[in-house]
Amino acid sequence: MILLMEMKEMGKFDKYVVKGIKWQKSLPYHVSKIGPPFNKWPILMDGSEKRVSGARIWAYYMFFNDANPGLAKMQLKWADRHRHPDIDETYLVLGQRDSFKVEITLDEEVFHLTPPSAAFIPSGFTHSIKPIEFGEGATGGLVATVTNGEYLCIPPNEFDMKETRENEAFIVRHETPILMSKEKVERATMHVFYDFNETNDPVIDERQKEMITNRHVHPEGMNEVILVIGQGSSVTLELTLENEQFQLTPPSAVYIPGGIEHELQYSFKKGKVGGILSICDKGDYLKI
Ligand SMILES: [Fe+2]
Ligand SMILES: [Fe+2]
Repeated sequence: MILLMEMKEMGKFDKYVVKGIKWQKSLPYHVSKIGPPFNKWPILMDGSEKRVSGARIWAYYMFFNDANPGLAKMQLKWADRHRHPDIDETYLVLGQRDSFKVEITLDEEVFHLTPPSAAFIPSGFTHSIKPIEFGEGATGGLVATVTNGEYLCIPPNEFDMKETRENEAFIVRHETPILMSKEKVERATMHVFYDFNETNDPVIDERQKEMITNRHVHPEGMNEVILVIGQGSSVTLELTLENEQFQLTPPSAVYIPGGIEHELQYSFKKGKVGGILSICDKGDYLKI
């Protein structure tokens, strides 16, 4: 029998590309009060066999829009207070500008962030995050990322919450396209580039564009993850890893270990909300 379907040969780099979400049954310190699918936890990248075996970057991705009315009721708890041993975390608050608000605690302080913003959480700092306000039809979400392939937690320290802002230095508000780097937060161990089309108005064309990065390589030991996020067809990423090509739409991700030559080109679809995140597990974005 002749197979009419064209079969793509498995290439050397297919193992680095993941399409769709891995719904995880439980996550330490995460409790949901609402039903499926939000009683499970959406993981885009981790170092397990089911994602990219050995990946050094873990990324959680909760994206919502008016198609998810349950979230608008604000019954969702993203993460209760906890700490991470020996690893740093970065929270990325993404989507339509100011369309929703999250409350982050960092040791004894409380911060309110709206998109696009980020919080760097050094290892050992007690922290939590929860949504507290959604605008009508808000579209956006949260990416939480840690600099190893898995999400290890330890219990929180107890503090009295206070109003002073000693940890404000760990927060980046409304600065794009670089949401996190050593330049912005001295202790940061992640570099985050963010390019997002945030209008869903098909008449407005300002943000429709194509973006290209030329072929480059990161040094050994510096790993990059690219997350393709947002509404289904909002952005298309054409990716080349050495001589293999991939096409990705949300939600999907690619892990690029240091030493692998790569090139990106992406385009936004008018009227759809979504974009690209590049996360590097060092505070700089070094090319060789
Ligand atoms: Fe955490
Ligand atoms: Fe890169």
